[in-house]
Amino acid sequence: MRSQLDDHGGLRHLISLDGLSREALTGLLDRAENYRRFPGQSAYEGRELAGMTIANLFFEPSTRTRASFDLAGRRLGAHVINLDTQSSSRVKGETMLDTIYTLEAMNTDVFVIRDSEAGMPEFLIDHVADHVSVISAGEAHVSHPTQGLLDVLTIRCHKRRFAGLAVAIVGDIKHSRVARSTARALQTLGTSDLRLVAPAPLLPSEVEFSGAQRFIHMDDGIAGADVVMMLRIQKERMAQSADLDDAQYFRQFGLDARRLQRCAADVLVMHPGPMNRGVEISSEVADGPHSVIREQVNNGVAVRMAVLAAIAATLTRKRKPL
Ligand code: NCD
Repeated sequence: MRSQLDDHGGLRHLISLDGLSREALTGLLDRAENYRRFPGQSAYEGRELAGMTIANLFFEPSTRTRASFDLAGRRLGAHVINLDTQSSSRVKGETMLDTIYTLEAMNTDVFVIRDSEAGMPEFLIDHVADHVSVISAGEAHVSHPTQGLLDVLTIRCHKRRFAGLAVAIVGDIKHSRVARSTARALQTLGTSDLRLVAPAPLLPSEVEFSGAQRFIHMDDGIAGADVVMMLRIQKERMAQSADLDDAQYFRQFGLDARRLQRCAADVLVMHPGPMNRGVEISSEVADGPHSVIREQVNNGVAVRMAVLAAIAATLTRKRKPL
């Protein structure tokens, strides 16, 4: 993969957390913490992105990620275009590159892209102009770097450490880009007790997630966990999903109040959303005292501000004089 950093070590693109050092991740988390504001406080308003244009291109559904990239850009002073992908020319057969070149011609500086095709973000960084950046907002089942960052930010805000934590990721790990990015970030930051908990057909292949332990019984996988991250079953990424019975899945892999007692007393419950209440998590737990699910959403805006600001600093060095 092409480097995501420029020659000065500045963030140029963000399509994966692979290859980013602990220092690089920590730098982004520190920046994000500075942007964090809580509901009820006034949001951070800055000019870090003044004069820049960001295009949000979401070719898969999104609520949180899209809204937070939009807000992050605007709160730092950028112009933001949210392309309506249902009516955009890509539906009419225009290739992704033509869409990108069209928006580049309108002085777009940053493309935020979500697509179901693996390899699309890397393809784009090979083709965009020298003064343009690409951020992945979710690449097929492969990678979701800003979600990985917001997850570790949420954990850091509560636990203030990564080493020595037991983190269980539970659910459809095989098809989850969130699991891949969050696991990578945790391992880079020093978490060694990482557990993947899923029915055998939803565990990833043995070559992936090296260093993580695998469990097919939830009660074993979450025992003593400091963090439990629940995942949705990604039916849209499965060839056949008809034989999955929601009630049976909840009995075997759903997080309810009884099961939560197997975890550490101060366990954090996380979920990237969208949640299927009663399938992978009960409402009692999702809305209960251990849940940090809405804090994850809050941190998502701060993380996207941090990533955009870091990229803007790099791009400013590349700006052509008038
Ligand atoms: C996730 C995604 O799109 O990968 N959602 C998100 O970005 N918060 C998870 C999912 O769709 O299950």
